[in-house]
Amino acid sequence: MIVQQLNQIQSHYGYLPRENLVALAERLAVPLYRIEEVVSFFPHYRKTPPPQLEVHVCRDMSCHLRGSASLISDLEANLASEITAGRASVCGVSCLGRCDRAPAVRIHSHAAGKHDGSHEPLSYLGRRNDEVVAVAKALASGKEPVVQPDQDADLPDRSPAWKINAYAGKPREERYQAVKRVIEAIRRGPAMGDAERDRIIQSALKNAVLLGMGGAGGQAFKKWCEVREAVGQRKYVVCNADESEPGTFKDRELLLRTPYLVVEGVLLAGIVLGATQGYIYIRHEYEECIAAVREEIAWAQAQRFAGEDILGSGVDMTVEAFVSPGGYICGEQTALIGAIEDKRAEPRNRPPELQTNGLWDMPTLVNNVETLAWAPAIVLLGETQSSAAPPATRATCRAIEKAAPDTDKSWYGGQGRPFDELATMILGSDADWQRRHGAATRFPGMRMFSISGDLNRPGVYEIENGITVGELIDLAGGIRGGKKLKAMALSGPSGGFTPAVLPRAIWPRKLQRLLPETIKQVELLGLQMHINYFRVWDLMLGAGIVVYSEDADLVEQALACQRFYSSESCGKCVPCRIGSTKFTEIAADLAGRRLKRSDIAALSGESSVITDLAFTMANTAICGLGTVAPNPLSSLLKHFPTDVERYVSS
Ligand code: SF4
Ligand code: FES
Repeated sequence: MIVQQLNQIQSHYGYLPRENLVALAERLAVPLYRIEEVVSFFPHYRKTPPPQLEVHVCRDMSCHLRGSASLISDLEANLASEITAGRASVCGVSCLGRCDRAPAVRIHSHAAGKHDGSHEPLSYLGRRNDEVVAVAKALASGKEPVVQPDQDADLPDRSPAWKINAYAGKPREERYQAVKRVIEAIRRGPAMGDAERDRIIQSALKNAVLLGMGGAGGQAFKKWCEVREAVGQRKYVVCNADESEPGTFKDRELLLRTPYLVVEGVLLAGIVLGATQGYIYIRHEYEECIAAVREEIAWAQAQRFAGEDILGSGVDMTVEAFVSPGGYICGEQTALIGAIEDKRAEPRNRPPELQTNGLWDMPTLVNNVETLAWAPAIVLLGETQSSAAPPATRATCRAIEKAAPDTDKSWYGGQGRPFDELATMILGSDADWQRRHGAATRFPGMRMFSISGDLNRPGVYEIENGITVGELIDLAGGIRGGKKLKAMALSGPSGGFTPAVLPRAIWPRKLQRLLPETIKQVELLGLQMHINYFRVWDLMLGAGIVVYSEDADLVEQALACQRFYSSESCGKCVPCRIGSTKFTEIAADLAGRRLKRSDIAALSGESSVITDLAFTMANTAICGLGTVAPNPLSSLLKHFPTDVERYVSS
């Protein structure tokens, strides 16, 4: 329990005093270097006392767009004497998961000698520069802040209207029905229990075509199947709630508003797969979510939905919240496993996959918050529990995979909207899509998006797959000031910047061949939102979308994104470590007007330092960061020459 103990020490003292590290090593009977190995990896930990005041300002996408750079300058100017005297520090940090109220600021006030565990930071979200400066100056002089801090819970709760929330409007006692249902079947005997487990994987998850919501978009039932079939003394379920991709904050809302769905999803997965322990791995900046999840787990245990001998069935499944020691890379599933194992959170090569060799080398299911939160609704609102006699043999993974999904039988799958003409034209000719989806005439499923940037109502929206990009922007109140759309980052910084209009020349070759010559361009606003449809366009569709109006400066944005990747690369792979820094240097040279037209021409060519580096990084990266890190700068040079031109030195 090194990580959790270090979290407690840091929370108590504001840093990690050496004597406490020595005492911890003795208490856990591990060498001190094991403790130091962990401490030196995570940016959250510090070994020296902090200044009295630390101000962290998010410098990533939506916050940068809403002036975080000028806020940092104002804070530095106004706290200059405190900074010089070492009593205060101001620094830009990576996304804090509050992109819907940008710019996001967290202020840590460490009064001298304060060892009372009250080092929790104060959040100031979407505030004017003068308000944040006034708060910082008050705290620096030991006074009460002049403006009350903001809470995540202050935002309107949209969860009662979400379809994912099968318990909306119902009393607390009526929750955990999906767990109750599988436990009831298990009580009726091992064969009925197995049949119900098969039904959940096959009839519920597979027919729903529930996709993993962590980014890769694989079909959820496959991982569940593989963990169920894997052999191990113990099995684990890990919910990945380390949401750190700039522009992404939907898991924050799910954890805060509907922690019961997440906890039930973990319990359900554990019971179905034969696991006995679950972890909900949450980033440490989500304090309110951590409290909500812990409170929910305690309640579920008290009601005997979780813990030992669930509802008297003899089935054990314990869940706990694991607070991440920080760093974007911890969201990578193998890195996250490393952190829970008290190691440095460096991603590792796969295979072996986590489904067979995961946490402590045991079969482990790692699913995103949203994936697990959908599971109860899909199970409850889908086909009813089978009362027929169970089949003589258990369904194997192979058999389940082979059976075509019957999305019409799934409540969740049936929600998808029909394809429009363009999607039908493309996907109707896509053999792979047809193989996977049969004669489907709909985009199955639903999904939650965090959308921020130049919008009137940034926030989390639950939508049916297949609504258009424009419809989602309308839901979010349209573009601020009635401006036109310039570009979107459709998967945080990972997918780079996509222009509002996609001219034929930049379409993937396959589409150029497939679509009639009469179609010269396609409006991004008209594209239907589904991860696989976007893939046909060579576009990534993540859970965090940032919208840029015609006034946005994409050169500045590209620099912010490249800085994010170079500071978050874990450094394990040399090309990623060096390459991500090189991309930041190029972006900084461009933003600093130090590049000539000839430099830009060289960088934009078919073979340039950018394409070579991107190729090397993609082919040597252990994890996805190394593959996507070049995208902000590459997409800027490819799609936005006018923006680049404004920065070219003469
Ligand atoms: S690709 Fe980058 S972030 Fe990923 S493991 Fe390698 S160095 Fe670390
Ligand atoms: S909180 Fe600033 S980009 Fe997410």
